[in-house]
Amino acid sequence: MTIHRKKKIEVRNLVKIFGKNTQKAVSLIEQGVSKQEIFERTKQTVGLYKVNFDVYEGETFVLMGLSGSGKSTLLRCLNRLIDPSDGHILVDGDDIATMDDKELREARRKKMSMVFQGFALLPHRTVIDNVAFGLEIQGISKEERYVKAEEAIAKVGLKGYESSKTSQLSGGMQQRVGLARALATDPDVLLMDEAFSALDPLIRSEMQDELIALQDKLKKTIVFVSHDLDEALKLGDRIAIMKDGVIAQIGTAEEILTNPADDYVSEFVAGVDRTKILTAENIMKRPDPVVSINAGLTVALQLMKKHGMSSIFVVDPDKVVKGILCVDAAAPASKEKKEIKDVMKTDISIIAPDIPIKEIIPIMAEDALPIAVVNENKKLLGVIVRGSILSALAIKEED
Ligand SMILES: Nc1ncnc2c1ncn2[C@@H]1O[C@H](COP(=O)(O)OP(=O)(O)O)[C@@H](O)[C@H]1O
Ligand SMILES: [Mg+2]
Repeated sequence: MTIHRKKKIEVRNLVKIFGKNTQKAVSLIEQGVSKQEIFERTKQTVGLYKVNFDVYEGETFVLMGLSGSGKSTLLRCLNRLIDPSDGHILVDGDDIATMDDKELREARRKKMSMVFQGFALLPHRTVIDNVAFGLEIQGISKEERYVKAEEAIAKVGLKGYESSKTSQLSGGMQQRVGLARALATDPDVLLMDEAFSALDPLIRSEMQDELIALQDKLKKTIVFVSHDLDEALKLGDRIAIMKDGVIAQIGTAEEILTNPADDYVSEFVAGVDRTKILTAENIMKRPDPVVSINAGLTVALQLMKKHGMSSIFVVDPDKVVKGILCVDAAAPASKEKKEIKDVMKTDISIIAPDIPIKEIIPIMAEDALPIAVVNENKKLLGVIVRGSILSALAIKEED
């Protein structure tokens, strides 16, 4: 089944060269000259080069990479706070890159709001004034501004703080005000640049959780910039890893962890706790062979012998897991004319495909038998044996 999703943002061949001699820099890039060398030779900085990606409606898309890799430049090109040197940025099919000032103002007003690095609040104004400020510059009436600001404040959990001065709030609360200001205009797209980077680790983690919860309800399209891989993996439906102004890889957390595109990405993800990201589905093996509950014990024993297995899953004709048969129980029973269902173990561990490895390890430790990965109808999708976990975690070292 293919799921067709609406593309909210389409970025095509986006180029940004800082400096006056764009053409010179571009021709050097095409010759394979590095960003560093181009700067030394021409004093032009390659901000972005031929960047291509799509962001789907309702998706949280994370731009990730080391400092200076071009994340902010890319984000700021999306709403033309920075004018790209070349390329296209389609939002709902309209090209932001070629809009005149009036069209651009309209697009910013209706479609995109930005949450800045380090909050960018007006310190001496109150919370509600700060939140309403975005609406004020859009020329919305005072009455409507304050109604909308009030709603946005409630969404980010700041009810009761409307008349506090923002300078008196903690970092986490200031960031909520920044978020409320962006939400007040009810944009389709939220652009967030290192929005949580200035926060203490605990508050930061809390804000990430809240953004996820908020996003479940609001279903905005979010482009989130982060240099923190854990944050990217936590928030991003998909992640683009940037290096020197180009995208090194785009994919889901699983795709990037299990199949890094190059050494740069491998190095980037080397320190990640894979047990939090990889799930049962990523490490399970195909469930073969299995034995039908209607088969005889002799058949089951033959299958196990042939495949060198000491246990085998028992399924019904719909592939629903009924139990597991162990060789040491099956062998003596087969001489007593017993059936599979008399000797199979029915008290088995079953898990859903999206359970992270971290939660599978303790199950495995308690019970040496394989674990069945099943869908919501208990149909067998795959099996996990001890070796699957070890090999999934070892991918990196083997390479
Ligand atoms: N206004 C500017 N003028 C010249 N160079 C810039 C400007 N803004 C950014 N750059 C350069 O572009 C590159 C990408 O920067 P930036 O997008 O801020 O990176 P990131 O957000 O990933 O840390 C860096 O080499 C930076 O020095
Ligand atoms: Mg930046």
